[in-house]
Amino acid sequence: MQKNVPVITIDGPGGSGKGTIAHRLARRLGWHCLDSGVLYRIVGVLGMRQGIALDDDAALAAFVSTLNIRFEAEHVWVNSEDMEQAVRSEEAGAAASAVGSLTGLRAALLQRQRDFAQMPGLVADGRDMGTVVFPTALLKFYLTANANERAKRRYKQLINKEHSVSLPAILADIRARDDRDMNRVIAPLCPAENAQIIDSTYMSVEEVFMAVESKVQAYGLDFVFA
Ligand code: DC
Repeated sequence: MQKNVPVITIDGPGGSGKGTIAHRLARRLGWHCLDSGVLYRIVGVLGMRQGIALDDDAALAAFVSTLNIRFEAEHVWVNSEDMEQAVRSEEAGAAASAVGSLTGLRAALLQRQRDFAQMPGLVADGRDMGTVVFPTALLKFYLTANANERAKRRYKQLINKEHSVSLPAILADIRARDDRDMNRVIAPLCPAENAQIIDSTYMSVEEVFMAVESKVQAYGLDFVFA
């Protein structure tokens, strides 16, 4: 991590809208954006493809260090493969949540995530951005919403991307994932002590973005794009 690179973190459970807000904020500021969940999704998808058990911490930690992961034009590439579509499935999300509880793998990904902090700044979203990966971030947000609302949002997102899904299955998956992400021993999902908590259950994306934007402006950061 470069010293003095400004970082804003946005953590929260799946379907809370943190990815949308993070991308939009990064665009407005002209900063880089790290969707850290994608890293865990890649490990889940490629680990399964390689036949590595999703609880084999040492093998997955060694495996991830061999991968060349790049974000280009809003797609994620691993070596020469465009993995954008593959990492967005519910199966990839469940695999990501499973490997997210592995200590060695999280340690292997720590520096990699910090390396995304490049000038002029970074907006990072995930589960432990404000608590573990970027504890000294300038501003920290924690976005949440009730599980039913998050399931509906996820359903709409996946249907739009032509994944075949059912709402009850998504709700069950969201509940199981919340439980795993919040109750794991290492880097559990929780708001950082100094995070601004936004419950978006009854808010539109626009309203959430305006709430985030006003905190960022109050901090004195300039938006370079409309
Ligand atoms: O944000 P997401 O839905 O893409 O994340 C998928 C899973 O990856 C999530 O359920 C837990 C894991 N994850 C994590 O453990 N730490 C992060 N910083 C981001 C994601």
